[in-house]
Amino acid sequence: MTLDTLILKSLRESETVSGSDLAEQAGVSRAAIWARIKALRLVGYEIDANPHQGYRLTAAPDGLHADDLLARLKPVKTIGREIRVFNKTASTNDIVEKIARDGAPEGVVVFAETQTRGRGRMGRRWVSPAKKGLWFSILLRPNLRTESATQITVSTATALARAISSVIDRKVEIKWPNDLLIDGKKIAGILTEMSAELDGIKYLVVGIGVDVNLSASELPPELLGIATSLRMVAGKKIDRPALAARMLEELDHDYSRIVAGQFRELAEEWENQCVTLGKNVSISIGDQRISGRAESLDVDGSLMVRTSHGRLERIIGGDVVVEK
Ligand code: BTN
Repeated sequence: MTLDTLILKSLRESETVSGSDLAEQAGVSRAAIWARIKALRLVGYEIDANPHQGYRLTAAPDGLHADDLLARLKPVKTIGREIRVFNKTASTNDIVEKIARDGAPEGVVVFAETQTRGRGRMGRRWVSPAKKGLWFSILLRPNLRTESATQITVSTATALARAISSVIDRKVEIKWPNDLLIDGKKIAGILTEMSAELDGIKYLVVGIGVDVNLSASELPPELLGIATSLRMVAGKKIDRPALAARMLEELDHDYSRIVAGQFRELAEEWENQCVTLGKNVSISIGDQRISGRAESLDVDGSLMVRTSHGRLERIIGGDVVVEK
């Protein structure tokens, strides 16, 4: 744990903390603590210093800081063990892809305040204005067959839906496999990219984009009417670092369930929130188009679609349109 993480964690856990307690916990001098308090103030943390009572955190900046995100997390098993925050990058998926190839362990999370070449599914661009959303990617190395990679997208969606509902107290719907909606409009998407070998998944890069504090004018014009932001829905600004920490905890929790082979339980939760099941859908997979009724979720996370000919098709990816 870095010194900043230890300081911020202590300040969040108690109303006031004395410099000598912090120094003792960290095994450093009080002067070293004071130096870090001054540095934290420079990046926007408002910390009162009272000679009798000690330090008190009164406000935190809206910007993401790795040490602060780590300080906010309860102990995690995998996701969020290591967090990196970039101010600007082309795509967080590319950064994680690179560190995956360099052999980084699973659970590393990379955030960027803005992306210049954020990408969505189907080669679409993903607009990522600075400090308006949560744009991040996670490295995972699950022991799964490649066909089961959809399990990870499904568990990511349930975790994000739970985290978002807890912050804005609204029902979040899931559109298979990767869209999160409120009132039928998209607020978040997941882009899972995989590196695989014959015997299974080598690693997955799970990219997550959440439209948090965007205003209508910051959404791409072509998305008006089909996308929204949490701020627009809630009618107030959302605390991004708090939401980010909440998401990481839920993601870690649901990933642990997948690793423990509990996909079925998770799938039930998913099914309750899913707007795709029971509906007529049409799915484009490259040049192919399949239409039918979305019946259920299979054990590997695929969508089972009954076509008009009565055949049950297993869908593992593609662009799904839910017909009204
Ligand atoms: C979708 O099409 O719905 C998926 C969007 C995924 C966007 C996120 S933002 C962070 C990560 N980096 C990217 O370039 N894309 C994903």
